Amino acid sequence: ARATIGLTGLATMGRNLARNIARHDHTIAVHNRTTRRTTDLVEEFGDEGDFVACESLADLVAAVERPRAIVVMVKAGEATDAVVDELVPLLDEGDIVVDAGNAHHRDTVRRQEKLEEHGLHFVGMGVSGGEEGALNGPSIMVGGSDHAYERLRPVVESIAAVVDDTPCCAHVGPGGAGHFVKMVHNGIEYADMQLIAESYDLLRSVLGLEPAAVADVFEEWNGGDLESFLIEMTADVLRHTDAETGKPFVDVVRDAAEQKGTGRWTVQDALDLGVPVTGIAEATFARSISGHTAQRSAARKVFATAPDGDRAEVDREVFVDQVRAALYASKVVAYAQGFDQIAAGAEEHEWDIDLGEVATIWRGGCIIRAQFLDRIREAYEQEPDLTTLLTTDYFADAVKDGVDAWREVVVAAVRSGVPVPTFSSSLAYFDALRRERLPAALIQALRDDFGAHTYERVDRDGTFHTQWAEPDRREVSVTD
Ligand code: 6PG
Repeated sequence: ARATIGLTGLATMGRNLARNIARHDHTIAVHNRTTRRTTDLVEEFGDEGDFVACESLADLVAAVERPRAIVVMVKAGEATDAVVDELVPLLDEGDIVVDAGNAHHRDTVRRQEKLEEHGLHFVGMGVSGGEEGALNGPSIMVGGSDHAYERLRPVVESIAAVVDDTPCCAHVGPGGAGHFVKMVHNGIEYADMQLIAESYDLLRSVLGLEPAAVADVFEEWNGGDLESFLIEMTADVLRHTDAETGKPFVDVVRDAAEQKGTGRWTVQDALDLGVPVTGIAEATFARSISGHTAQRSAARKVFATAPDGDRAEVDREVFVDQVRAALYASKVVAYAQGFDQIAAGAEEHEWDIDLGEVATIWRGGCIIRAQFLDRIREAYEQEPDLTTLLTTDYFADAVKDGVDAWREVVVAAVRSGVPVPTFSSSLAYFDALRRERLPAALIQALRDDFGAHTYERVDRDGTFHTQWAEPDRREVSVTD
C-alpha cells in the first residue's frame, strides 16, 4: 500500500477533489464504479500528481496506507449507503470512511454508529465551493472523531482554500457536526441568493434598469461592505448575453428555481430546534413559489400581472443606495439567524462548535465567502457566547444606519407589487426583537380560552388558567 488516501466516486466533484489532493503531493488511490472514469482521469491528469488507479473497491482499500482514509464522493442517500456497506467488510479496525457529499447530519450519525460497531470511523465532511472550489481550494467542515481528524488533517489542510495564511478547514466537532454546519451554510446560501435576487428585481422592476445596468450596480457594491463571491458573480451573470438570441442571459432562463434539498433541511431542522431562521425559510419558500407554475399562471389570469402600473416614484441614485443598505441589513439578519441555528444545534447535539472558527473557515473557498465574515469572526472572538450577532457594535451600526432605507425599500416594493419576502421578513424579525411587548400575549390568552393551555403572568411567578366558561371567569393557579 502506498497511497495516503483513497477516493471513490469520480463525478465532477470527486474528480476535482482527487486532482486537488494529488496536486498537493499526496499519493491518491482513485476508483469509480465505471472504470472508464478512473482511466480517463489518470490519462488526462496523471501528470498533475501521483494517482493509483483502482478497478475495484477491494483494490482501492488495498492501495491505501493504514489506518486507511477512504473518501466517498457519491450521491447522498442510498448510493452512499451502498458504497459504505460494500467498504465495511474490506476495512480494518481504526480505518476511516469519509463522506464528502451533502449528507443529512442525522444520516451521518447513523452511519457513524453503524461503523463504530466494526471499530471503524465515519467522518461527515462538508465541502463547499462547487467544482472550482473542489479543484482549487474549497472550505472544508469536518465532523467526526479526533483520531479521524488527525489522520485527515495533513491532506485537508493542504487542499483547502487559504485566507490570511489560515487554511479554510476545521474539525468543527464530533458526530454530524461537519454536515450540520455545511447544511446551515447552504441555508445561508439560499438566503444570500434570494436577497440578491430581490435586489435585482427591485432595480429592474422599480427603476426599470436593464440587466447590464444592474450588473454595474452590483459591481460597484462589490467594492464595499457587500464584497463577496456571490455579488461578484451576480454582476458577471447579469452582464452575460445569450449567444443564440442576443438577449440578456437572465431573460432566457426559465424562472423556476430548483433545489437539491439542503435549504429545506436547514428549515426543517430549525423548526425542530425552535430557531427562527426567517430569512432562510422565506428564501426556500420563494424557490418553491417560483416552481408552482400552474398557480402562477392562474393568478396572473385573474389578478393581472404584477408589478402594477403605479410603480413607486423614486430617485434612481437614492433608491440604489437604499437597496444596498436594505440588502446589507437583511444579510446581517440572515447570517445572525444561521449562526443562532448552529449554536442551538451544537447545544442540542453536544457538538461544542466554535462559531468564530466557522466564520473563519467560511472566509474562503465556499459559496458564501464574503468580506463580512471577518467581522463575524471578530465578533465571536470577542464574545464566544454571543446572544445574537445583530447587537454587536459593527453589525448594530450597519443595521442602525440602514434601517430607514430598509423600510423605504420594503414600502416601495409593496407599493409596486414586487415580492420581497426575505427583505420584509428580515425587517419584521428585527422589529419583533425590538418590541417591548409582542402580541404573543394575546396568542397565549386565546390558547388558554379555547384549549386551557395556561399562561404565565407578567407580575408574579406561576402558571395560570382562567375559567373562561364560568360566569365569574376566575383565574386559578395551575400546578402539575
Ligand atoms: C457549495 C454548494 C453546493 C451546491 C448545493 C446547493 O457549498 O458548494 O452549496 O453544495 O451548490 O448543493 O444546491 P441546491 O441549490 O440545488 O440545493
